[in-house]
Amino acid sequence: MRKPIIAGNWKMNKTVEESIALSNGIKRDLFDIDNIEIVLCPPFTSLTDVSDVITDTNISLGAQNMFWETKGAYTGEIAPDMLKHVGCKYVIIGHSERRAYFGETNETVNKKVKTALKEGLLPIMCVGERLEERESQKTFDVISEHVKKGLADIGKKEILSMVIAYEPVWAIGTGKNATPDQAQEVHKFIRDILAKKYGEKISEEIRIQYGGSVKPDNIESLIKEKDIDGALVGGASLKEESFIGIVKKSSEAVKEK
Ligand code: PGA
Repeated sequence: MRKPIIAGNWKMNKTVEESIALSNGIKRDLFDIDNIEIVLCPPFTSLTDVSDVITDTNISLGAQNMFWETKGAYTGEIAPDMLKHVGCKYVIIGHSERRAYFGETNETVNKKVKTALKEGLLPIMCVGERLEERESQKTFDVISEHVKKGLADIGKKEILSMVIAYEPVWAIGTGKNATPDQAQEVHKFIRDILAKKYGEKISEEIRIQYGGSVKPDNIESLIKEKDIDGALVGGASLKEESFIGIVKKSSEAVKEK
């Protein structure tokens, strides 16, 4: 069975002090959760300190982005090895905000995924359609392109180290989450693409998270869906109570799954 993964994407929020306080609170309240993988993705400046807080706990560290080269003259960029050295296990790649504001494309996402895997980081690769694409019935075309191009040249062994995050852009930060049915439909579609490329057995092992306005009061119905293996949480991961609520409710809900 796939172990669900709940990751908090703090985006461009929290100073070092605030990050330490938040991660301490989360650690205190979630120490006994063992059926959900918990990941915190603070900004780069807080990675080292959050890493110290969560060492030897059930919480893993993730970064929000990285560059596809391993070192050199790339002012302002961060290499995968640097992330590993501060304790990162995961790295989010191709978040829709990076695609929208920083020119990331399926091709750059693919380059980053390949480098992350080569350097020993586990990519959380984000895919998702924009509102106008959903409204013009292009959801499945967009998702298919994001998944296929993002995973170009990724082999069977490597895909097993990856997490896919389905994040409909219209649901991110809007308070308007996809319904469990809408999300499940796309998750199943993604798993079918994976099954065609890697075989049924492997596709059943890959975790597909949902992201977009996840909160304590909607996580249960989402995570109970067959192909929804957790959540990538933005806004609600910035407050101790709401992130803790999401993880605890997930932990209960998956017991009945
Ligand atoms: P949100 O963000 O939970 O604030 O909608 C999700 C994300 O961008 O990962």
